[in-house]
Amino acid sequence: MALSLGPIQAPRLDLLGPRGPEIARLFTRPFLVLHRASGLYTARICLLLLYDLGWEARLRAGTTLDGLCEGLPGQVRKPLAWMLPFLAIEGLLTQAGDVFTLNGEPDLDLAGIRDAMETEAPGHGANFDLLDGVRSHILPFFTEGKAGEGLLFDLALFPLWLAYFRNENLGYFPNNLLTLLALREGLPEGARVLELGAGAGSFAQLLARQGAEEGWISRIAEYRFTDVAPAFLRRAQRDLKAAAPGLPLSFQLLDLNRPLGDQGVAAASLDAIVGINVLHVAQDLEATLRDLRSRLKPGGRLVIGECLKPDLDTPLYLEFFFGFIKSFTGVTLDPRWRPRHGFLTPEAWDAALRHAGFSDIQHTPPPRPLMDLHPTFSVGAISALY
Ligand SMILES: C[S@@+](CC[C@H](N)C(=O)[O-])C[C@H]1O[C@@H](n2cnc3c(N)ncnc32)[C@H](O)[C@@H]1O
Repeated sequence: MALSLGPIQAPRLDLLGPRGPEIARLFTRPFLVLHRASGLYTARICLLLLYDLGWEARLRAGTTLDGLCEGLPGQVRKPLAWMLPFLAIEGLLTQAGDVFTLNGEPDLDLAGIRDAMETEAPGHGANFDLLDGVRSHILPFFTEGKAGEGLLFDLALFPLWLAYFRNENLGYFPNNLLTLLALREGLPEGARVLELGAGAGSFAQLLARQGAEEGWISRIAEYRFTDVAPAFLRRAQRDLKAAAPGLPLSFQLLDLNRPLGDQGVAAASLDAIVGINVLHVAQDLEATLRDLRSRLKPGGRLVIGECLKPDLDTPLYLEFFFGFIKSFTGVTLDPRWRPRHGFLTPEAWDAALRHAGFSDIQHTPPPRPLMDLHPTFSVGAISALY
C-alpha cells in the first residue's frame, strides 16, 4: 500500500520568535516527514506489539483498559493506558467510551515506511530500528513482569540508543540545537558549565563545533560532563576529547535524584546547568529544581531541552519508549505542575521553575501559538535565571 503521510507543512517564520531564522533551518521537508513517519511507525509497532501478545481477538471483540490488564503484572497498566488512546488517535483502534475496538485490516506495513524514508530522509533507519528493538525486547515486561529498564537498556539495544542520540539524526537534533541557542545567550567569560544526563555526548559535540565556528567557545572555562550511567560516562571519557575539541572537559557520575552537594557539586559554583531530555525523570521535580538552583551562582542559568506536550491529555509518539521505564512513570506527582507522569506542557515547566525560585523564564522557540497550530511540535528549550 502506498504510504500516505497527510499534509506536511512547516511553521511560519513569524511563529518562531527572535531566533526564528536559526530555528527555521530545522523545518526541512526531511525533518517534517521523519517526524510524521515516526509517529505512524510507532502506532503500527504498538498495535503489532499487542498482536505479539496474542490480543488481536480481544481487541476485535472490543476491550477496556481494565479488561486488558486483568491477570497481568500491575506495571502494564501505565503503558497500556497510553497505547490505547494513542492507537485511537492514530486511527488504528476506535474508541467508544472506555471500550477500544479493532476493526477491519489496518495497514501495518513497516517496510513501506522505511522505504519511503530512505528516499525522503536517507540514513534515518536508527529511529525505526529502535522501535523494532523495543517491540522485540519488551514482551517479558508484560508476560513476566520484568523491569523495562533491564529490557530496553541491555547490550543488544545500547548501540541503537547511541545511533539515535546523534546530531545527524534529524529527529533528535532539534533538542540539541534549540538548547544550544538558549545556552549561548549571555554565557559569561570564564563560564563554568555542568551538563546533566549528557549521555552519548551529542550536545557537547554540537556545542564544541558551533562554539568554535561562532567564536564563543573560549568563554567556557569548565565543562563538566555528567551522567548517572557509567557506560555513557566511560564512552565519553574515551571519545569526547577528540569529538568535542576545545571544550575544557571533566567527567563525573551524577544522579540528579540525589543531593548534588553530596556528589561534589559545590553551592553557587556554576554559571550554567544544562540538560537535554533528562529533567523529566526527576523523581521529585521541586526538590531537584531547588537543588539545581542552589548550585548556580547568582545570575547563573538553568537551560533545559525537553519534549513538550500541547496539553497533558495528548499522547506524544515519543512517549512510547518511556512508558516502560520506572524512572519516567514513577515520578512524584504534584497537581500544580505534574498531575500525571510523562512529558510536561510549557506552562507546567514555567510553574515548576517559578515555584523553585527561578525567574526570567524564556522559551526557545516561544511555544504558543506555535504548538496550537502545530500540535505535533514537541520540543523546546527553556532557560531560567537563578
Ligand atoms: C534522553 S538521554 C539524553 C541524551 C544526551 N543528551 C545525548 O545527547 O546523548 C537521557 C540521559 O539522562 C541520563 N539519566 C537518566 N536518569 C538520570 C538521573 N537520575 N541523573 C542523571 N542522568 C540521568 C541517561 O543515562 C541518559 O544518558
